[in-house]
Amino acid sequence: MIATENMDIRKIAQSKIGQVDFQNIQFGKTYSDHQFMADYVDGQWKNFKIEPYEPLQISPASPALHYGISIFEGLKAYKHNNGDVFVFRPDKNIERLNKSAIRMCMPELPENIYFDALNTLLDIDRDWVPEVDGTSLYIRPFVFSNDDYIGIRPSQNFKFMIITCPVGAYYAKPVKVKIENHFVRAVEGGSGFCKTGCNYGPAIYPAMLAQQKGYDQLVWTDGKEHKYIEESGTMNVMFVIDGKLITPALGDTILPGITRDSVLTLARDWGYEVEERKVEVAEVIAAAKEGRLQEAFGAGTAATIAHIELIGYDGTDYQLPAVENREFSNKVLKTLDDIKLGKAEDKFNWLH
Ligand code: COI
Repeated sequence: MIATENMDIRKIAQSKIGQVDFQNIQFGKTYSDHQFMADYVDGQWKNFKIEPYEPLQISPASPALHYGISIFEGLKAYKHNNGDVFVFRPDKNIERLNKSAIRMCMPELPENIYFDALNTLLDIDRDWVPEVDGTSLYIRPFVFSNDDYIGIRPSQNFKFMIITCPVGAYYAKPVKVKIENHFVRAVEGGSGFCKTGCNYGPAIYPAMLAQQKGYDQLVWTDGKEHKYIEESGTMNVMFVIDGKLITPALGDTILPGITRDSVLTLARDWGYEVEERKVEVAEVIAAAKEGRLQEAFGAGTAATIAHIELIGYDGTDYQLPAVENREFSNKVLKTLDDIKLGKAEDKFNWLH
């Protein structure tokens, strides 16, 4: 218990919760009453505090603003029927945050600081964890450079923060995706496996071009040949072909998604044949043409499972089987929801 012993807590004078319509919450629009902050100064994490959610003051020269020296995580909290609040697999997020930190020349964050911050903030803002079906509290931990120096070098000063927001569904309906064969999200030797802002910002323009053509998102392909499938939008991507669950293997260019890992764990537990390997665009398109592509979906924290209804490639759109007939993705989504809400056995100890 390093952090809480010295945590400075300043609570909001008047909660904003009364202004929130929990029946109609959009992803990322409404923030809870409080934020957690800590500073990394002189080689140490210090100044732990919780204060009302409010704008920050940072140096205009901060490398976070100029060079994208920032990393983040996303996880969710759920309220069970008895009022208890549970967070889904938060240990995996601190593990991944610290891998991102190493790649971005940032200090690792000790687990006990992260858990103290998370527990204390959620305890204070527990009323913000919604109870309406399909909703949760999205938790966004992030670390960014707080140097006052515009030169290029590893930064020395950082801020770690957590903000939270009640959220509803990320996608309101199944998505139409286009397989991208010009723009790339990540390359071998790059930072695609990290959750750093600089992987997400440049992906918005190609996605916007696809949206102008009537698609919701892109399926990213490898940067060398556009031959292999990598991710979909901001999610990992999975296919059910000939009854097998197939997904790109992890590597430099693929985010080690926590939902990805949870889906694969459940699939293996249920006896499904699972293949983590290079997935060729050509094999997915051939399977779609031959009616062997039974399911396709994105897996991520924000959406959990985003069913793909249509895949566009090289000017042709391939319609996939009706979502209601998809056995695996519907079962995995229901099971994950049930585990998160305490309605199914938490066999793998995923709830914190
Ligand atoms: C996720 O779903 O895991 C994400 O990272 C989405 C987020 C960038 C909004």
